[in-house]
Amino acid sequence: MQVLLTGGAGYIGSHTALCLLNAGHQVVALDNLNNSSPEALRRVEELTGKKAPLIVGDCTNEATVTSVFEQYKIDAVIHFAGLKAVGESVVKPLDYYQNNLDATMTLCRVMPKFGCKVLVFSSSATVYGTNQEMPLREDFPTGCTNPYGWTKWISERILTDVAHADPTRSFVLLRYFNPIGAHESGRIGEDPTGIPNNLMPYICQVASGKLDHLRVFGNDYPTKDGTGERDYIHVMDLAEGHLAAIEFAAKHEGVEIFNLGTGIPYSVLDIVRAFEQANGLKIPYEITPRRPGDIAVCYADPKRARDTLHWQAKRDLTTMCHDAWNWQKHNPQGYGK
Ligand code: NAD
Ligand code: UFG
Repeated sequence: MQVLLTGGAGYIGSHTALCLLNAGHQVVALDNLNNSSPEALRRVEELTGKKAPLIVGDCTNEATVTSVFEQYKIDAVIHFAGLKAVGESVVKPLDYYQNNLDATMTLCRVMPKFGCKVLVFSSSATVYGTNQEMPLREDFPTGCTNPYGWTKWISERILTDVAHADPTRSFVLLRYFNPIGAHESGRIGEDPTGIPNNLMPYICQVASGKLDHLRVFGNDYPTKDGTGERDYIHVMDLAEGHLAAIEFAAKHEGVEIFNLGTGIPYSVLDIVRAFEQANGLKIPYEITPRRPGDIAVCYADPKRARDTLHWQAKRDLTTMCHDAWNWQKHNPQGYGK
């Protein structure tokens, strides 16, 4: 298949591009480089020996998206493009609603004009809101606690309504848990702008000496050691989940939702210890108050993806920590964007 990857130069998009190319598919990326570098796809080409063309443009612009479909015969779309910083979304909600929802709606408008019916969407475990019951199943109630989360929730709603209006469309909504790590080569990885918000990139920058120490946000949660528990998934497992999803969607009609997680919760201190052991490094940390908006525990029931997509995460926490550091160590300035 020829697959359009919106946001394809980003962290998850670039790893998925590599995975699709290695599986024999063709890719083309549309990215405005708001949070990424063209170097990521250049390295994907170097690793695969195949073309990963990048069109620099905005997915909210109907003329731009149309011109991509005119230029390439697109069979399916994986829609990664979006703004993703939870804290920033609270400060700039309109930017998030405008970018993330317009991008989704623009694709929905343009795709049928070119007979393209298959779309896989990057949703998030954040749509489960403050559910207390774990593990989280796809049929659990949803709701969000910040504008970023609502853009995912509303995009899921829009895609569901659009697919109901035209039952020949095939949309797969993937709810990711916490992607970390990097391709084993250390050539592509996560390249956050400024001080990282997320745990693993922060730990990597402490390990490299860029940041002084980790702040552990709260040790008074009702968890085994008091720190927050999450379902960390290797980004290459996540990428392989997209390959399974797109191949499933191409033979399917209607809307399907899948969690992409491992089903295993690890605490912040588990991650610190695993990182130290995997890489023979010390991560200094201090306990600080909880981060506003954080929940205690969040992990997936991955059964539906296993049964229906025949996909499950394979890489363990040691591999995730090793690969995250391998990328950081060899690319201390990321892609240098
Ligand atoms: P990323 O920022 O690395 O990738 C997103 C890409 O989209 C970037 O390259 C950015 O430049 C591009 N982009 C943003 N708006 C665009 C627009 N209007 N037009 C064209 N390109 C645009 O983020 P990521 O971690 O790779 O995440 C990919 C998707 O997965 C996002 O939708 C994100 O919300 C979702 N997601 C990520 C996580 C996570 O923890 N990384 C968790 C759940 C869901
Ligand atoms: N944490 C720290 N110190 C840090 C950063 C994080 O202690 O410097 C803790 C958090 O409190 C949390 C855990 O590490 O307990 C993981 O935090 P992340 O920021 O890495 O990830 P979140 O689970 O908060 O959020 C991520 C994505 C969101 C997405 C959500 C659910 O960043 O976009 O997963 O998928 F919505």
